[in-house]
Amino acid sequence: MTYTPPSEHESRINIQGVEIALGFPDEFNFSWVGQRDVLDQLLAAWLVIDANDIPLNPRLIGKPGVGKTTLAYAAAKKLNKPVYIFQCTMDTRPEDLLITPVVDKSGGIRYVASALVTAMIRGGVCILDEANRMSEKSWASLAPLLDTRRYIESIVAGLKVSASPDFRICVTMNDDSSTFEIPEYIHSRLQPQIYLDFPEAEEERRILRENLPFIDEYIVDYVINFLQRAHADHENYTIRDGINIARYAAKRMKFLNGNKTNIDGLLRQSVLMTLGDEALSHTM
Ligand SMILES: Nc1ncnc2c1ncn2[C@@H]1O[C@H](COP(=O)(O)OP(=O)(O)OP(=O)(O)O)[C@@H](O)[C@H]1O
Ligand SMILES: [Mg+2]
Repeated sequence: MTYTPPSEHESRINIQGVEIALGFPDEFNFSWVGQRDVLDQLLAAWLVIDANDIPLNPRLIGKPGVGKTTLAYAAAKKLNKPVYIFQCTMDTRPEDLLITPVVDKSGGIRYVASALVTAMIRGGVCILDEANRMSEKSWASLAPLLDTRRYIESIVAGLKVSASPDFRICVTMNDDSSTFEIPEYIHSRLQPQIYLDFPEAEEERRILRENLPFIDEYIVDYVINFLQRAHADHENYTIRDGINIARYAAKRMKFLNGNKTNIDGLLRQSVLMTLGDEALSHTM
C-alpha cells in the first residue's frame, strides 16, 4: 500500500472516520556551526538503507545550553521535511503528546493532533525537546512508536495512527538532575545516544559570531576567554551564557553611544549580572 501524506496546506485529516486538526511546522533561522561529527551521527541515525530498514530514534544528551535543540533542528531541516518541536514538561500528559479533545463553539468535540502526531501524519521530523522532563506515564504511550511498530494509540480519540515512512524523531535530554528517570524499555528504544560536549575555543568563536554577527571583536574575545577558563575549571557555563553576556555588554555599550573607555568594566558587570558573582573568578 502506498502512503499519501496530506498536502502541506491541509490542516485537517480524516482517520478511521475521525476528523483530526493538524498543527503547523516550526520555522526558525537556526544553523549549526562546528562539531560536524555530531551532525553526521544524527543524520546517519535517520537514514533508511534498505526496503526492510527503519530509521533509528536518536537521543541528544548534554548540559543545558550546549546546543542540543539547535543541532536537532538544524539536522532536521537538512532533510527538507517539515519540522515540529514538542516541548516536554513535567505536566505533559499522554493525550497532550498524542491527540487532545477540545470543545468547539457548537459544544461538540474536536480532536487536535500534537506536534508529534502531526509529524507522524505529514511525514515530518518531530523533536521531543527536553524529553526527560516527562513522566513515565507519558513515555509509555510512545513505546509502539519507538520500535518496529511505528504507531501510536490515542485512547481519547479511539484511534491507532501509523507513522508515515518519512517520519523521523529525535529527543533531546539535559543531564541535569531536575528530571525523571527514563524507564529502561524506553531507553532501549532511544538509540543511538549522541553526546554534545563544550566546544573548543575556535568553535565557540564561530558560534558566537554566527549568533551575534553585529558584535565588537573585543567582546567576542573576552567572552571566549571567559568560557574557556570556566570549562577548564569544570564550571557548567555554556555558549548560551556566553551569548547572553556578549549581547548584554553590547547593549550597554550602545547605550553609552559606543563609548569603549570602560569596556572591561562593562564586560565584568555583564558576567556578574548574567551568572552571579561566583562567575567573576573566571574573568581576566
Ligand atoms: N554549534 C552551534 N551552532 C550554532 N549555534 C549554537 C551552537 N551551539 C550552541 N548554539 C547557540 O547556543 C544557544 C543555546 O543552544 P540550545 O538552545 O540549542 O541549547 P540546548 O542544549 O538545547 O539547551 P537546553 O538544554 O537549555 O534546552 C542558542 O542560542 C544556539 O543558537
Ligand atoms: Mg534545548
